Amino acid sequence: MGIKEQVLLLLENQKGNFFSGQEIADRLLVTRASIWKAVKALQKEGYAIEAVTNRGYALKRSPDLLSAAYIEQELHAEGVNLKVKVERKVDSTNNVLKQYIAEGEKEDMVLLAEEQSAGRGRRGRSFYSPQGTGLYMSLLLHPNVTAEEGTMLTTLTAVAAAKAVEKVSNEEVLIKWVNDVWMRGKKISGILTEGSASLEEGKLEYVIVGIGINIYEPGEGFPEEIKDVAGAVFTSHIQKENMRNRLASEFIKNFMEYYHELPSKNYLEEYRKRCFVIGKKVKIITPSGEPYKAGEGIDRTSATVLGIDDACHLQVQYTDGTIEFLSSGEISIKV
Ligand code: BTN
Repeated sequence: MGIKEQVLLLLENQKGNFFSGQEIADRLLVTRASIWKAVKALQKEGYAIEAVTNRGYALKRSPDLLSAAYIEQELHAEGVNLKVKVERKVDSTNNVLKQYIAEGEKEDMVLLAEEQSAGRGRRGRSFYSPQGTGLYMSLLLHPNVTAEEGTMLTTLTAVAAAKAVEKVSNEEVLIKWVNDVWMRGKKISGILTEGSASLEEGKLEYVIVGIGINIYEPGEGFPEEIKDVAGAVFTSHIQKENMRNRLASEFIKNFMEYYHELPSKNYLEEYRKRCFVIGKKVKIITPSGEPYKAGEGIDRTSATVLGIDDACHLQVQYTDGTIEFLSSGEISIKV
């Protein structure tokens, strides 16, 4: 951790309290001049640090910026030891982790970015990732499971995200099958899981779980092509103090709790509780995004959702009474 990050952590942990430059310098074993330099840099980033002669420095207000030190500290407090890295701007956090793997990264880690210039969504779509309004992060993991078992990581992620968002917003957060997180009838978060499996061992070599959460409504609104579906955790675009770090920490904590007990599938009950399509009549959409066309045999254009099985397949009943289990690889649904 650099001096700037250490100064911030110290001031953040006792927000509002004054520390003299000498006191901070003594604690961090550096010079007073380097503390002064760190404070100047933090003020430039938007941290409201008051500097008073004979009293020193106190942090009054933090901008909603990501801090690896803060997130790591929150995780350590819960016994989660995960490497955390923050970047200001990347093309896609999933892409950067793939690059790290190519360069020999072997450890589990999480990468967060303030902004993505080429955020990617499922089915080759893009994910709108502007600076200032969202949280974009990817986890690199090496679970000892088959590719089939690994698909459940996406389900687990949706549950971990829904619980974290509910905690920071105090509002109801639901899941639309298969793994979109919804609030007030709009999608606030999407998940893209990618990985590589060894054919010889039949096991996953690594998995990258990427999640994007729209925290604030963009000032200029969402772009035309997504504005009917996209929503945000908070309807205002006024930033809340330290929200990104709190939400990220909360999400990672939830995620790791479920992840360590992956085979027990203990997240499924929570998934079913939040999955609002159960009992609803839905339209079936093909992978190309077209509504299913009625043809010969069973009419699969619409169905009633009966439930979700343990592999997260959707159990549906068509109008003629036929029951089928559908996988997210084959179809999606419209409510
Ligand atoms: C979807 O809804 O289609 C999935 C969206 C996934 C977006 C996240 S943001 C962090 C990570 N990096 C990416 O490029 N995509 C995922």
